[in-house]
Amino acid sequence: MLRPLLVGNWKMNASREANSTLLAALREARGLACDLAVCPPTLFLGDVAAALLGSDVAWGAQDCSAHEPGAYTGETAAVMLKEFGCRYVITGHSERRTMHGETDQLVADKAKIALAHGLIPIVCVGETLSEREAGQTHAVVMRQLSVVIHTLGHCVSQIIVAYEPVWAIGTGLTATPEQAQEVHALLRTQLAAATAAAASMHLLYGGSMKPDNAAALLAQPDINGGLIGGAALKAADFLAIARAAQ
Ligand code: PGA
Repeated sequence: MLRPLLVGNWKMNASREANSTLLAALREARGLACDLAVCPPTLFLGDVAAALLGSDVAWGAQDCSAHEPGAYTGETAAVMLKEFGCRYVITGHSERRTMHGETDQLVADKAKIALAHGLIPIVCVGETLSEREAGQTHAVVMRQLSVVIHTLGHCVSQIIVAYEPVWAIGTGLTATPEQAQEVHALLRTQLAAATAAAASMHLLYGGSMKPDNAAALLAQPDINGGLIGGAALKAADFLAIARAAQ
């Protein structure tokens, strides 16, 4: 079994004061049977790096540019994230796909540049409620992942995939463990056609993962961790999920 990975996606929630309380508690956590990482807003990466240096908690960013440094106002280059000690970068979160018009190809290009700079992309895929109701879940997630596989080739083995049903994000609705496992198994089969390392890749579930539903989700054979939004903002909740991963 892969050691589970729990990644806190703070989204646009943070302040220096709140961060220092949260990070101090995460730093102190001992004896967990999973790995932890946090993805704060980019502006706070320097603070977070300083607070977590020498701890077991890793950090990453919520997005990166698909370009190398240059004239791209407002963007952050993967090479800069690396300089600030990031291990991970989320690409293709549904909020970016929806609110910022990110296409499957742009998401894949971001993953590619992240890998080129030694970051581990956490590539998000997931269907909307109307797509699920129309029976399109498999087609949607496979289409999203296929562009990543095509763009990365055999290097796809180095990424993490997060299945995040859009209808479950921030809504309190969670995919049942069976619904999530079904999609995770599908994604792993798709990855297995592209890389011999598919069995050892981390596939994370995201979408209203909480202390009370985490154990059942994380017990599924193809769910190797979580991408956690709301419940990652409170140390008690995030660590309760971490303990559920034992
Ligand atoms: P949520 O967010 O846990 O608040 O549903 C998950 C995510 O969007 O990554």
